[in-house]
Amino acid sequence: IQLPRITTQSPLLPRTLVMSTLSTPNVSKRSIIENKELSRLPTDIKFYAVLVGGALAIATIGAGLYYYINSRSPRPKSSKKEQSITPWEVEGAVIDGKPQAINYDKLIEQFGTKPISNELLTRLENLTGKKPHLLLRRGVFFSHRELENILNKYEQKKPFFLYTGRGPSSTSMHLGHMIPFVFCQWLQEVFDVPLVIQLTDDEKFLFKTDLTLDDAHKFAFENAKDIIACGFNLEKTFIFSDFDYVGDCIGKLHFVAIQAAPSFSNSFPQIFGKKSDIPCLIPCAIDQDPYFRLTRDVAHKLKYPKPSLIHAKFFPALQGPQTKMSASIDSSAIFLTDTANQIKKKVNKYAFSGGGDTLELHKLNGGNPDIDVAYQYLTMFLDDDDELEDIYKKYKSGELMTGELKAKCIAVLQKFVGDFQKRKSEITDDLVKQFMNPTRKIVVNDLDGKSK
Ligand code: TRP
Repeated sequence: IQLPRITTQSPLLPRTLVMSTLSTPNVSKRSIIENKELSRLPTDIKFYAVLVGGALAIATIGAGLYYYINSRSPRPKSSKKEQSITPWEVEGAVIDGKPQAINYDKLIEQFGTKPISNELLTRLENLTGKKPHLLLRRGVFFSHRELENILNKYEQKKPFFLYTGRGPSSTSMHLGHMIPFVFCQWLQEVFDVPLVIQLTDDEKFLFKTDLTLDDAHKFAFENAKDIIACGFNLEKTFIFSDFDYVGDCIGKLHFVAIQAAPSFSNSFPQIFGKKSDIPCLIPCAIDQDPYFRLTRDVAHKLKYPKPSLIHAKFFPALQGPQTKMSASIDSSAIFLTDTANQIKKKVNKYAFSGGGDTLELHKLNGGNPDIDVAYQYLTMFLDDDDELEDIYKKYKSGELMTGELKAKCIAVLQKFVGDFQKRKSEITDDLVKQFMNPTRKIVVNDLDGKSK
């Protein structure tokens, strides 16, 4: 018996299948007969006939088995991919192919940070005489490292400073980027302390392959305008580009040193003179914590105070809390350059809704504000606690419709973005240069035990 000779291998036929066909030692009786019948036909046709016949048989058996197994047996064991939060990627867990919301309790545990307790907030309120900012009341800033140390300094009337930053990866900043800056502006006002803002143009140039050095540097200045528009006090705020102020770029390998350095007061002689012992509080999104965990470790060896931290959750994309708002996905984000009409359209079209499937069902069963993106945005931008609570209850009971909830969200966001745009339009290049001038003196209260 001669099996068909295979000269060229069909790309559609997996190699293993071909090999096993060729090396089959026991050719069944039936196939011998078939082969014999076929042997009268020209070789090429025989070959393809066997191939097609075989493929059809395998496909039929395969499909039959597939449907049989699927209809009879339970689904295979569930699959789970753990969440991964680093300065370079933010990914929620995936269970059976379904993306999950970020588990922040788990992050606190994994990172070894502390949740912000009500006692801590009460202490902050008593010390400052100010109601905690809504981002604290609503748990957007939810975790910390040694925030007590900073409150102790304030209580003892000893100086400290604030440090935060931004990676200028594009000119299009969105609502999510505003969160740490809105919060820092409030902290600066309440505590009346200096703030340094690092623009890591070097980081973005190093880590984003498509970004040129010139563009990253340019974006730093562009972004500085948006940051200044959050209302920072010129007399107490220093904004710097790494390329300009830090100078030597030591590459990806130890970029962490560049982000660590501003935590130490002697990095800013124009503000703190030679003092290296002025402690620092860093408000940041929780994905930046690994950098500062390392910073805190080396601080000890350098005999500098460890920086304290206060961490924010991520800002949900319009599509839901499984991902964060991303400047590179237009439909996920509300940009600070969006018009009132664009905001309305985006929220109506894309904001993930926790409402009932139909009007009737919504009225009957109510909606779920906890997964509703329009509601989530209200928790971050609507200051009135009573109004927010009222919205929560009415949405949950089905009294408030999805359309009405979205309309409220749209109005609040339009106001925030509109006010922002007005402030930004007044910011000149000259003002940006003043904020970024490295030789300018900055006033620090109680630096030498007395007001300067
Ligand atoms: N690495 C941050 C980013 O990509 C920017 C940054 C630098 C930063 N220093 C910081 C953020 C301090 C928070 C706090 O956005």
